[in-house]
Amino acid sequence: MDLFEYQARDLFESYGVPVLQGLVADTPEEAKAAAEKLGGTVVVKAQVKTGGRGKAGGVKVVHNPDDAFTAAEQILGLDIKGHVVKRVMIAAGARIDKEYYFSLLLDRANRSYLSMASVEGGMEIEELAVERPEALARIEVNPLEGITPAKAAEIAKAAGFADDIAPKVADVFVKLWDVYKGEDATLVEVNPLVLTEDGDVIALDGKVTLDENASFRHPKHELLEDKAAADPLEAKAKENDLNYVKLDGQVGIIGNGAGLVMSTLDVVAYAGENHGGVKPANFLDIGGGASAEVMAAGLDVILNDPQVKAVFVNVFGGITACDAVAKGIVGALAELGHAANKPLVVRLDGNKVEEGRAILNEANHPLVTLAATMDEGADKAAELAHAAA
Ligand SMILES: Nc1ncnc2c1ncn2[C@@H]1O[C@H](COP(=O)(O)OP(=O)(O)O)[C@@H](O)[C@H]1O
Ligand SMILES: [Mg+2]
Repeated sequence: MDLFEYQARDLFESYGVPVLQGLVADTPEEAKAAAEKLGGTVVVKAQVKTGGRGKAGGVKVVHNPDDAFTAAEQILGLDIKGHVVKRVMIAAGARIDKEYYFSLLLDRANRSYLSMASVEGGMEIEELAVERPEALARIEVNPLEGITPAKAAEIAKAAGFADDIAPKVADVFVKLWDVYKGEDATLVEVNPLVLTEDGDVIALDGKVTLDENASFRHPKHELLEDKAAADPLEAKAKENDLNYVKLDGQVGIIGNGAGLVMSTLDVVAYAGENHGGVKPANFLDIGGGASAEVMAAGLDVILNDPQVKAVFVNVFGGITACDAVAKGIVGALAELGHAANKPLVVRLDGNKVEEGRAILNEANHPLVTLAATMDEGADKAAELAHAAA
């Protein structure tokens, strides 16, 4: 789960990372009031879960409350890379001397953590990483040891911080590690980490991704969820404990087991090339116990996706045998009644496949087509989706 900057700011503050005051506002009036409260120069900042807000006109420095009102008026409603701004943060203005970069992230490929730091932070960091990668220090962080003061000093040195500043930034690196570890984050990025004209080191921007697999350890993280932005279908799937990810295509997919569903997506995408370029509409793994109830919940989610034109149910019977799955499908269709209104291609294989097919043949549901193989099923589902699109 990605956090908004203001949420990252609050987390940073609670771990003692130096930040400036910030107040959120949903209207220009609130922005003006916030600017009055903070006094002096403030920065009106779009709160969207994407970078590059500054370049997109989503960060404006203003010197009085009336200008904060106007800036908020301009920023609220702005579309930044497909994210519409609904909230701004009014942050105290920093007098910046230098902008640095720091990040700490999960390095999956190396099964480790990676920290990156540079004395040349700010809005051009992506260009820097491409054009002069040597200016961006990359230091591995052992997950079991973390960023100790010694490690922090190593990172600061590699990034090229001068001796007088290094201890100050190193202290912030250690605190950012505390955030990363304490909150089970997979990313903590600060860009820019600034040196002010008064010589203070402050995190002026914050990007944090929390690991949802660790949410059981952090009941408070639920409060950070952006419920309004959650996809209603994904929310519904979550309520039913289904592993569902909405995608952009037309062929709804249900399978049992993440591996099988992943390969089903591939096969459907491939088959779609022969049928007008239709694509998988989702990932949905109903897991081991493909009961009628779970099947109905899964079908309900998928059939409610207006983009879906046909559904491919691809199940390999294991502990839950194909006859149980077939009963599940028949039961689900009965339960859904008129809500089941799109063609369903079903491929069953594995434990008790004959019994399963017999059940579906007997039910003879007008929307259901049986496929003998995964390729055949994918092709049929793609064909039906294309015909209906
Ligand atoms: N509180 C602040 N005071 C002064 N300048 C700021 C402040 N916050 C951001 N800025 C300036 O705006 C730039 C962009 O802001 P930032 O929060 O990094 O957004 P983004 O990374 O999405 O562009 C920063 O690099 C910094 O120069
Ligand atoms: Mg930034």
